[in-house]
Amino acid sequence: MDLVIVGCQAGDEGKGKITDLVSEGAYAVVRYQAGPNTGHTVVADGGEHRFVQVPAGVLRGAVGVLGGGCVVDPRSLLTELADLRDGGLDIDLRISESAHVIFPYHIAQDIAQDDWRGAELATSAATGFADGTGRIGTTRRGVGPCREDKVARIGLRLVDLLDADLLAARLSRIVPLKRALLERVFGRPDGAEPVTAEVDRLVEEYGAAGRALEPYLCDTSTWLRRARAEGKYLVYEGSQSFGLDLEQGTYPYVTSGFTGAAGVTVGTGTSPAQRFTVLGVAKAYMVQVGGGPLVGELTGATAEHLVSRGREWGTVTGRRRRVGWFDAPMVRRAIAVEGITELVLTNLDVLAGLDEVQVITGYRVGGRTVDAYPVRLRDAAAATPVLERLPGWPEQDWTEVAHRGAAALPAAARRYIDRLAALLDVEIIAAGVGPDRRDTVPLSETSLLSEK
Ligand code: IMP
Ligand code: MG
Repeated sequence: MDLVIVGCQAGDEGKGKITDLVSEGAYAVVRYQAGPNTGHTVVADGGEHRFVQVPAGVLRGAVGVLGGGCVVDPRSLLTELADLRDGGLDIDLRISESAHVIFPYHIAQDIAQDDWRGAELATSAATGFADGTGRIGTTRRGVGPCREDKVARIGLRLVDLLDADLLAARLSRIVPLKRALLERVFGRPDGAEPVTAEVDRLVEEYGAAGRALEPYLCDTSTWLRRARAEGKYLVYEGSQSFGLDLEQGTYPYVTSGFTGAAGVTVGTGTSPAQRFTVLGVAKAYMVQVGGGPLVGELTGATAEHLVSRGREWGTVTGRRRRVGWFDAPMVRRAIAVEGITELVLTNLDVLAGLDEVQVITGYRVGGRTVDAYPVRLRDAAAATPVLERLPGWPEQDWTEVAHRGAAALPAAARRYIDRLAALLDVEIIAAGVGPDRRDTVPLSETSLLSEK
């Protein structure tokens, strides 16, 4: 079986924990896009494990695979691997030799470009964002500019790090280009190091990083095809989510890759004619860590409750996440586009203690009610949510609830789950009620999770 885990909102739905749950018995857990912008957290056996570039499924002993759709920052990947090994994890990894490499100039460009973009969007009346939030608020890890270079056909792949002449020749052309962009366009002088010195330094450092990663490099497409032919169970771990997809998301407030199940085929070299089962993950409320419109964004005491109770700070950037009520039209669209048949609803415990909870069932735009997320930025910025109110549920001993199963869920929480399932037209197969892998309540006896 090939299982794809896709987040239905804007990231941070708890994909790490769900990947971990379904990865028991998996032969490999595969990342098909993203890079050091991702943060997946798994709490298990009394420890908290954070994964950035390494697939969270390695915690179960699966082989971690980074497909060619990933972008790799060798500096931070080598540090992450060393840290995971220091923590006692024995990691087996395969990395596509054609994954593109993030260089320091990509990171400088990511920062300068997002500030530049923010200034443009914030001052343009046409976007509707007059409050200075025009930045995408990227994670500033160089992911977007690395992909820009890939598309421009001036990027360097991991395999290219092993060819010192090629590396030096390419960098001698690219470094002056990036200098000109940073200094003359963005007005950010980045120090006085001569170009030749920078090129020499990069050739040395990234050549060494390439050699350090060489044992993991392979043609991951062929590797995965073989594994599949042997009937192995493969899990594809989505990073970022539907709302951040370059094609389907809330453009331009998106990431630079294809986060959904379609990204699997391109990002791993796997045939789209092959069958995949797509498991959706959605949080019981909305969170967003970057900029852009969040319809019905919550402030005040309710926002405080969700942020502190849900520990809503970014794993990678440490930024406080923005929160809102569950956006049913957005998740419904994700389910339809991704072909999701079963959904896991996470963080139900975080809503506990509120007198009432609400669900967005549509958007009001210019006097009309619509159920599709507005494409025009001006409309997205001005949209107000149509809300349905439901009774809240009191705080519980959630470990006990998870232990006793679905029957132990408070009645109002059960009603909330059933209402979402009806609005979304999907089966909700499990509810997350805490950060630990054990804090998951199965709601169905015949689901992807119970079969595991
Ligand atoms: P980038 O991926 O760094 O270019 O950032 C683009 C947008 O995606 C920003 O809004 C980021 O906050 C968001 N983003 C990127 N990675 C993640 C993630 O793993 N979780 C949540 N949001 C993310
Ligand atoms: Mg995350």
